[in-house]
Amino acid sequence: MVRSKCWILAAILLVGPVAFGQSQGQQTTAPDHMEHRFDNPEQLAKSFDDPARDAWQMPDRVIAALSLKRGQVVADVGAGTGYFTVRLAKAPTTPKVYGVDIEPKMVSYLRDRATKDGLHNVVAVQAAADTPNLPEPVDVVLIVDTYHHIGGREAYFRKLAKSLKPGGKVAIIDFRTDSKEGPPAEFHFPAEKVKAEMSAAGYKLAAQHDFLPRQQFLIFELASRPSR
Ligand SMILES: C[S@@+](CC[C@H](N)C(=O)[O-])C[C@H]1O[C@@H](n2cnc3c(N)ncnc32)[C@H](O)[C@@H]1O
Repeated sequence: MVRSKCWILAAILLVGPVAFGQSQGQQTTAPDHMEHRFDNPEQLAKSFDDPARDAWQMPDRVIAALSLKRGQVVADVGAGTGYFTVRLAKAPTTPKVYGVDIEPKMVSYLRDRATKDGLHNVVAVQAAADTPNLPEPVDVVLIVDTYHHIGGREAYFRKLAKSLKPGGKVAIIDFRTDSKEGPPAEFHFPAEKVKAEMSAAGYKLAAQHDFLPRQQFLIFELASRPSR
């Protein structure tokens, strides 16, 4: 019995699509976002930080596309185990990186990982459902495989606008509608839906990159400065 439970757990963690949200039993879906707990960072790290991910996630190319400048501040919202946070922190421009997550165990895991790796430019931040709780305005917000987990997105991104420096960008990477990987199909949002939602929240498209084989990569900036 115990052995078969272990096997089922191992199988769940080995299958990429499931690790990125397609599990049974734990989730309840709402019309506009997917609720799912990511409360087992040690296990999830096996898939999130699997070196094989680099082939399709292309982190160096993604980070290059963000065009970071020295001294800039980045927030990795929905940072998980820190796949992008640690790479951002090691980028040549060595930005200060807020690794933000709603799951307390992920925040602790990321804090420990940054300490072990000697990444003094990483700050782990506990998010709430309606705000990333950023302690200062940032130049770039990166949101990877997390947009579909955020509820009330129009209000969320309107509020987030107040945490962007002038010229700040929000980069959203999430699974394409035709991707076999990722969360259940209803949470593979068409790019047009993401653009429409971001437009309603006060943003305009600044760039769209098509080099990722599984995900769309959209970069937004504010259509106008928010009133503070
Ligand atoms: C599929 S994982 C992606 C992790 C990471 N971005 C990566 O690419 O490896 C989604 C993460 O987003 C977090 N998350 C979900 N909703 C969130 C929210 N509203 N604010 C911040 N983090 C959230 C989850 O706890 C989880 O760690």
